[in-house]
Amino acid sequence: MNPREVAFNNLQQHFSEARHLNMRKLFEQDKDRFERFSLQFQDILLDYSKNLISADTMSLLLEMAKASDVESWRDRMFHGEKINDTEHRAVLHVALRNRSDNAINIDGEDVMPAVRSVIDHMSDFAGRVRNGEWKGYTGKRITDVVNVGIGGSDLGPKMVYQALKPYRHPEMRAHFISNIDGAHTEEILGQLDPETTLFIVSSKTFTTQETITNANTARSWFLATANDEQHIAKHFVAVSTNREDVIKFGINPDNMFEFWDWVGGRYSLWSAIGLSIILLVGEENFLALLDGAHAMDNHFASAPLAENMPVILAMLGIWYNNFFGAETTAILPYDHYLRSLPMYLEQADMESNGKSVDRDGHHVNYNTGPIVWGATGINGQHAFYQLIHQGTKLIPADFIASVQTHSKLKQQHDIMMSNFFAQTEALMRGRTLEETVEAIEQSGTNIDDVRDRLPHMVFEGNHPSNTILVNKLTPYSLGSLIALYEHKIFVQGIVWNLNSYDQWGVELGKQLAKNILSEIESSDTTARHDSSTSSLISYYLQVSRERGENRDA
Ligand code: F6P
Repeated sequence: MNPREVAFNNLQQHFSEARHLNMRKLFEQDKDRFERFSLQFQDILLDYSKNLISADTMSLLLEMAKASDVESWRDRMFHGEKINDTEHRAVLHVALRNRSDNAINIDGEDVMPAVRSVIDHMSDFAGRVRNGEWKGYTGKRITDVVNVGIGGSDLGPKMVYQALKPYRHPEMRAHFISNIDGAHTEEILGQLDPETTLFIVSSKTFTTQETITNANTARSWFLATANDEQHIAKHFVAVSTNREDVIKFGINPDNMFEFWDWVGGRYSLWSAIGLSIILLVGEENFLALLDGAHAMDNHFASAPLAENMPVILAMLGIWYNNFFGAETTAILPYDHYLRSLPMYLEQADMESNGKSVDRDGHHVNYNTGPIVWGATGINGQHAFYQLIHQGTKLIPADFIASVQTHSKLKQQHDIMMSNFFAQTEALMRGRTLEETVEAIEQSGTNIDDVRDRLPHMVFEGNHPSNTILVNKLTPYSLGSLIALYEHKIFVQGIVWNLNSYDQWGVELGKQLAKNILSEIESSDTTARHDSSTSSLISYYLQVSRERGENRDA
């Protein structure tokens, strides 16, 4: 057995007893449990004491991390080695926010001068748009920025744009077109004035069908008013690794913001893909976002495993995923500004670790990446929390909130935070039959009137959660928080022996869609599919024909 298998077996043996751990008892027995199982990094406090763990569990999990060579893989990533082996690429989003003077080399070449030069280009451009020096074709200032992109070229910038609302330019707004559904495009374009709108076509490959189609639609919409292709230069810029196709699209290469194949799409908000962010929050705040991420990178790169926040979060996830058999993990921000964080993390995590073939090309015989889902916590309480509290499934959850709010409604913040604390307490403690009876009696209700309901009112509890408290949601702390999750995903990928940086699984559907589109466009139903797919395509064509749909509209 290799060290990783030994560590896994040790954990499995430990699990046969640990599965019966009861958190309520653990808290009663150990008054220092919070101190033992919590960790502070700058403005971020992680409390992981409400987990189904003992000190032995943690040391065995950390042994597993060690035995999986997490530290050496981490160092290989930071040193620009090509750890994305199926695409022969380095994985260097950490270089994008390397705010030190240290070089980071790929094949002996320092990438930092290019990184800094793109940041300068972005800052210069953003400064000119923000102060009104950059004008639209009729001489008006830009008020609306539209990011046209999808997946990593949309979710990151959109999430950060929402999260940093208090830092935005007061006279500017951003919009995000991602969906190929024309309704999304129309809805956004319908609110805009071509004279004051700037489009950022964001696509790493510049071949993504949804983005290029939407960008062409935006271009036609713009030209319908501007009437002259020369005006495009003032209103369209591109962010891509594909210079050639950007030029073919008609965008002036001077207005192209470059990034590189060693930046994964879902790790790209720190790159020029963050152009909409810098445009809206300005250079200083964008750099603070990078600073915060860089600080977390340093922590991840240097803290011992037992005090390493991303490692701890990752190994707790492994504990539930691979031993308790938890299928999902919930992200529950109690912060309106973080409402898109669950969606962002869905891609970051599931596109990274949703794999069943390991680095050596073998099918794995263990569970890999969990289903990641969530919504703002308060709304979730009135929707899906019932299942977390009393359903049959184990759902580990991350509760995330800020101590200080940007809102003036401080009392509302206290109400929200009281719910935040109450939920993790309720999940952990539950409520016994005796406590339920007591609570009913205290409320003045006659117990005989509700006796038949009692079983429904008991909470088993013992549901695990992490609490992440950020002192205040600032560009800096947001940067650290996102980097925390990125590194958590990295560690889990290493423990599962996966390449977290490719995404072959999304390709098949794209290829099939291309074929089906040509069948739809030519109304050709002779292609061989299964009977379901063929019948559905025929039905679609038939009904749209009957309803007189005009495809060219
Ligand atoms: O199809 C998945 C994907 O490749 C993601 O990994 C990526 O973030 C998204 O599409 C967008 O890709 P691009 O930036 O190349 O348009």
